[in-house]
Amino acid sequence: MTPHIRAEPGQIAETVLMPGDPLRAKWAAETFLDAPELVNDTRGMLGFTGTWRGNRVTIHGSGMGMPSLSIYAGELIRNYDARTLIRIGSTGAMQKHVAIRDVILAQTASSISTPSSAIFRELNFAPCADFGLLQAAAAAARDRATTVHVGGIYSSDTFYDERPDLNQEMTRHGILAVEMETAELYTLAARFGRRALSVLTVSDHLITEEALPAAERQSSFGDMVEIALEAAFA
Ligand code: ADE
Repeated sequence: MTPHIRAEPGQIAETVLMPGDPLRAKWAAETFLDAPELVNDTRGMLGFTGTWRGNRVTIHGSGMGMPSLSIYAGELIRNYDARTLIRIGSTGAMQKHVAIRDVILAQTASSISTPSSAIFRELNFAPCADFGLLQAAAAAARDRATTVHVGGIYSSDTFYDERPDLNQEMTRHGILAVEMETAELYTLAARFGRRALSVLTVSDHLITEEALPAAERQSSFGDMVEIALEAAFA
């Protein structure tokens, strides 16, 4: 047990999928896993362990933002020995050629700061995905109707941002989309020698200002979960 996860050792699988939203963890576990068992509900942060094609998988919420993710991913790594961590989440597109419902595989995650920034001081550490997972996810995505992009994303500390000039620079430099967790996930994975990847579904668009209707969110997220599972066990 940890301050934030009540699961017993052994109740967490080596492979963990991490949506931000605890209710999406419940939905994904009930939709994609066989025999999902609730293993955490501390502070309403839900985690489930079950099997997918015979492989043990935990689907556990990360909460929103890097400080929250660093607590859950950090405890899953340090206390439960999670080896493969895949974020499944939503993202806001920053390029015209990226559309709502598209899937993004985050090769790198730029940021202004992460909870790990204090370690690096003057160094601009470059958080990147595990290459094997990225390659497997790209292969899993190839057979699907959904459009998939591979490239750099931006992990922000704010949802309501006040720096349109910075967003323009990121768009100019090819950043595909913005979310709020991946840079810290990749940094933790690097520090502890684990595999990490973020598979993201575009839920809103910073340039066109389109947004995925709330009723459609769940159904559009299925592809992302399947790509994550296929990549984890490729
Ligand atoms: N996650 C989904 N859309 C987002 C956005 N526009 N900004 C930050 N995080 C997001």
